[in-house]
Amino acid sequence: MAAPGSNVWPHGYGQEHFEEIDSTNTEARRRGETSAAASVWLRADSQTAGRGRRGREWVSPVGNLMCTLFLRPACSPSAAAELSFVSGLAIHDAVIQMLPQDRQADARLKWPNDLLLGGKKMSGILLESATQGAGEVSWLAIGIGLNLAVFPKDTPYPATSLRAETGQIVSPQEGLTRLANAFAHWHEVWQAPGGFEAIRTAWLARAKGVGQRIVVRLSDVELEGTFEALDGEGALILRLDDGSSRAISAGDVFFGQPK
Ligand code: BTN
Repeated sequence: MAAPGSNVWPHGYGQEHFEEIDSTNTEARRRGETSAAASVWLRADSQTAGRGRRGREWVSPVGNLMCTLFLRPACSPSAAAELSFVSGLAIHDAVIQMLPQDRQADARLKWPNDLLLGGKKMSGILLESATQGAGEVSWLAIGIGLNLAVFPKDTPYPATSLRAETGQIVSPQEGLTRLANAFAHWHEVWQAPGGFEAIRTAWLARAKGVGQRIVVRLSDVELEGTFEALDGEGALILRLDDGSSRAISAGDVFFGQPK
């Protein structure tokens, strides 16, 4: 099994580099619509049309890591969605390796798939896919943005970067190699029998806010309650004040009142 701490390129994955591209996720989509080879990490030095979750822009300057893993996972859409948690664990491992020991506990995962450092967002994931006839995923793009150098101001959730938090300078290529290694490790865990259960347990151990009061912003409403758990499909289980619980599969989590 690939060692999560190693800094050599993992076996079985390709990589391609672009100086500038519209979006590595859009490039994955273009490939998905052809017979292009999969299991390839696409990395760009900068993106002119970087995209985030829920239709937001993803600011993509030189110095940060912008990459997409292009896969053909041959599984159901719900199984493919589990790879978001696999990816979150991989980002967490990669970032831990870049942090001084006294900051490592500050790196936490925020549902569904952000990485926070010191309570601010340093990384996000955008999963996109297409499904073919029988309900099998024909391609999957796992797009990851990791603020190594700079971060945007005035975001819905406060952001930060590795450099701003620690002064460390890590190159995007080094960041990608660490990430690709960690992904290969957690992907193997996921593929083993009972794999998502192991992923869910590991994810919860690294998550922020489990057992605490949170606010979840849905497209039409904000809900407040206690973050109880993740269900078997990765939905957030929120216990509301009337005692009922809701399984939430898409939304933005806040640990205080959103601005
Ligand atoms: C989020 O909103 O938190 C998800 C951000 C995902 C950004 C990455 S950068 C590489 C890839 N290409 C894109 O256009 N988006 C993803």
